[in-house]
Amino acid sequence: MKTQRFVAASALFGATLLSLPAATVTISADKPGAQVNPAMWGLFFEDINFGADGGLYAELVKNRSFEFPQSLMGWSVPGDRAGTTRAAVETDASASVGGRHFLRLEAAGSTAAIENEGFRGIGVVAGDTYDFSVSIRTSSPVALRVELVAPSGAVIGTARLAQLPKQWAKQTASLVGTLTEPRAHLRLTLEGQGSADLDHVSLFPRKTWKHRPGGLRADMVQALDDFGPGFLRFPGGCIVEGAKLDLRYEWKKTLGPVDDRPLLLNRWNVEFKHRPTPDYFQSFGLGFFEYFQLCEDIGAEPLPILNCGMACQFNSGELAPLDKLEPYIQDALDLIEFANGPVTSTWGAKRAALGHPAPFDMKLLGVGNEQWGPQYIERFARFAEVLKAKHPEIALVGASGPSPDDERFKFLWPKLRELRADIVDEHCYAKPEWFLDNAHRYDTYDRNGPKVFMGEYAAQSQATATPDNRNTWLCALSEAAYMTGMERNADVVRMASYAPLFSNVDAWQWTPDLIWVDNLRVLKTTNYHVQRLFARNRGDRVLPVKLGDLTPDEEKRLYASSTYDEGSGEVIVKLVNATGKKSTATVDLSGVRQIYPGTITVMQSNNPDAANTFDAPNSVVPQTLSFSPASQKFDVTLPADSFTVLRLGVSR
Ligand code: AHR
Repeated sequence: MKTQRFVAASALFGATLLSLPAATVTISADKPGAQVNPAMWGLFFEDINFGADGGLYAELVKNRSFEFPQSLMGWSVPGDRAGTTRAAVETDASASVGGRHFLRLEAAGSTAAIENEGFRGIGVVAGDTYDFSVSIRTSSPVALRVELVAPSGAVIGTARLAQLPKQWAKQTASLVGTLTEPRAHLRLTLEGQGSADLDHVSLFPRKTWKHRPGGLRADMVQALDDFGPGFLRFPGGCIVEGAKLDLRYEWKKTLGPVDDRPLLLNRWNVEFKHRPTPDYFQSFGLGFFEYFQLCEDIGAEPLPILNCGMACQFNSGELAPLDKLEPYIQDALDLIEFANGPVTSTWGAKRAALGHPAPFDMKLLGVGNEQWGPQYIERFARFAEVLKAKHPEIALVGASGPSPDDERFKFLWPKLRELRADIVDEHCYAKPEWFLDNAHRYDTYDRNGPKVFMGEYAAQSQATATPDNRNTWLCALSEAAYMTGMERNADVVRMASYAPLFSNVDAWQWTPDLIWVDNLRVLKTTNYHVQRLFARNRGDRVLPVKLGDLTPDEEKRLYASSTYDEGSGEVIVKLVNATGKKSTATVDLSGVRQIYPGTITVMQSNNPDAANTFDAPNSVVPQTLSFSPASQKFDVTLPADSFTVLRLGVSR
């Protein structure tokens, strides 16, 4: 963002001449305290809201291998070919479990055709290349025409496969989009008389993240990279647990050739009656290898979460008996070896075979997602006993249930302390007022017990998990206030992530979410910008902050935190004014001899309901200007309902 001189912009952010009564913000810049975890502000990824399939995983064909229980879901015969097309899914009992079904497409009298609707359409950009592939066999003299078709019926991309093989073989072709269209379809037409068998029908944009074939959507990963995340928690969320144990996430099944990865019902498919998504399955095209690779790409610590022998307690709560936990614990041991082991180890060799001989340097592992009750503690204890003995270098993350203060939470925390969990994962979905009222929550936490990972949190404008929630400015502002509390207590709170991360505008189950997408665009919410400002202005050491001379409103709703960036020699100050009125703060950087020009970044709206939308993506976004206080004690105007970040170089 372009910066201008702060003096020229004083009307905008209201630099004052020290005449109004001001709150005092005294920062002991010469008394750096706790180290802020470099991985403090991160991301929580789950395949919810079409986050992976239909989202980050750039595959454009839904039900590409005809393995959905309704085997032609997503596929249809165009009306004008209904009389001449026979399309049936058949079973090949000799094929691998991952791919038993295939499509037999047969022309009865004239040409046969079938269309795939994509994930609520296929996004096509004019001039971009799309890579098509299919496993195919035929004994007929036929060719396959491949077309991208706009809703108008116009063909906006075309390719042709002639000389098709008699035995199963992969065939590829590329298409170039001639029109930008968010809701195209893929049409496959059999030219000639006869039939062909098709499987693993796939279409990817050539422009994936890092141009990896079969890779991730570049614009979505870019938004993650822009964030500057300290860690990435994956793959969920409730999908780790599954509604029943046989529907749980099993990381080993997500490795290797994508065509062989078995399909699984996505737990969010059936979860919410208010948002049915019957076409939601996990293809695992984004599997554990790809998650680790993504972490490496965006500089995030990997934090995998594994099932601990418990299905989702909001669903069946099915338990693996304690004497049958061994495979679950072995999965954890093997995962550590997969991520960190030498290439001579069994699982390290598998990592190397996938193209990554160097270890991924995993340091964190979550045991269970959002579990609760004595059954969880029994299972956590078994995992901890084995993992701590064999891998003391891995920090174990324990769960504290779905609420930050209910009976389940109060039961779990002391138990996890007794079991010497390294980190406790707290979750909170609550009204903005909760976040505003609880910004001091960690001031009194035990400094000697496990550290805190605020692993899922988001202010809910209406009520938890209702479809009416929106990503309002009030929600984002309240999260900013709460984050100042986490930052002030960075000795206890080691990590935090907003949840959920992604949401497809046409296929979501849960709102609010950090980033919304459609087939061609990415929308960064006000919440994203708040989170990113914390991540990009983290600092290395906490500086003590004292607020004084507050009005009664400010007493309740003015928040501050500060850190020191050892690399740049800057003091970073974060100020949240949620009083609903303009405030003035006199910031005193005590212990500072000299101050240098820096920047002021402000997010503000007078409308607490303001939200970024695809039509108005910049309703509430950060604005950065240069800022040059004359001395170490200076005034800043804090607009009503604003979040301000100052960065100032200092000599101490
Ligand atoms: O973030 C949505 C869901 O909320 C997560 O899957 C789960 O852990 C929590 O209940």
